[in-house]
Amino acid sequence: MAMNVVTVFGGSGFVGRHVVKRLAQTGVRVRVAVRRPEKALFLRPMGDVGQVELVQANIRDDASVAAAVEGADAVINLVGILYESGHQKFAETHAKGAARVATASAVARVQRFVHISAIGADEKSRSVYARTKADGEAQVRAAFPNATVIRPSLLFGPDDDFFNRFASIARLIWVMPLVGTGKTRFQPAHVGDVAAAIVAAVQDPENIARTFELGGPNVYTYRQLMELVLNACARKRILVPVPPQILKIWAWFLQMLPSPLLTVDQVNMLLGDNLVAHDVAGFSDLGITPVSAEVILPTYLWRFRPAGQFTAPGTHSGHQGEA
Ligand SMILES: NC(=O)c1ccc[n+]([C@@H]2O[C@H](COP(=O)([O-])OP(=O)(O)OC[C@H]3O[C@@H](n4cnc5c(N)ncnc54)[C@H](OP(=O)(O)O)[C@@H]3O)[C@@H](O)[C@H]2O)c1
Repeated sequence: MAMNVVTVFGGSGFVGRHVVKRLAQTGVRVRVAVRRPEKALFLRPMGDVGQVELVQANIRDDASVAAAVEGADAVINLVGILYESGHQKFAETHAKGAARVATASAVARVQRFVHISAIGADEKSRSVYARTKADGEAQVRAAFPNATVIRPSLLFGPDDDFFNRFASIARLIWVMPLVGTGKTRFQPAHVGDVAAAIVAAVQDPENIARTFELGGPNVYTYRQLMELVLNACARKRILVPVPPQILKIWAWFLQMLPSPLLTVDQVNMLLGDNLVAHDVAGFSDLGITPVSAEVILPTYLWRFRPAGQFTAPGTHSGHQGEA
């Protein structure tokens, strides 16, 4: 199928910027649909002059979504939120918004639709994030039966939220809280690998109507992930298990802040394993060999070391307040 125009909802985000760059490299015109195009100007140099176009669209609004998909050959929906604020509710963005984009794409006779969900999407989950992700998948499939659904695991990359956040906490305090016993298991994936998988999924018609779960090559417990972060930032900190109920009380207060460090729903998510299922297609089915967190984390978390890039590898600091 000849592909000329690909619309990317959420193209300015952490995953989106990698997807836009890779799509531009394939030579297609990339139309990035976001609420605030003025904050997405950094994407334009990722393509030739005029190749990356920015349009204003809100997946909560019918007219702007219809305009953004008009004339597109493929549509990728990356919109997702980690916490609710104002009109940005989980149900509105993950479920109704996703359904709106899929319906508009079907009406506009778009040929390929790729929807980004998340590992853990489950209508029975105790997390609203995960329940609404499951609802979004179902509504997308109902509106656009040939949609490809991609469920990534926790992601790492230079501008990630998770690993950078814990590295910055380690710089400030001596004690790092572990969720519960710290035994929840994760299979983190590199954002670049996931972007490559999304682009491969769009390009190959063999992937229509399939679901992919994308996890990295290794499984780590929550405790091991914290140890990886501390290793990459060359710091020694005490890892203290905190019972989920206590964490939820902290999170309940924290989630009142405009950009919360932790929410009760996130604690619920962190309590369940986040691993790819064995009977679902993954990276290998898209021809990608994923890179591990051990290899990539030190390449960007070095800035949290006591003396930045001048800290010799393998040295660990236990002193508070350095940096
Ligand atoms: N990051 C991870 O570890 C991870 C793991 C598993 C799954 N995922 C999923 O992967 C997807 C991308 O995640 P991410 O980390 O890249 O998220 P992100 O950095 O928060 O980016 C979200 C993007 O969505 C746009 N957006 C938000 N609300 C919108 C709305 N109402 N209408 C239109 N655009 C809207 C944002 O731009 P504006 O605010 O300018 O509109 C931004 O471009 C999400 O679906 C997420 O659930 C992420």
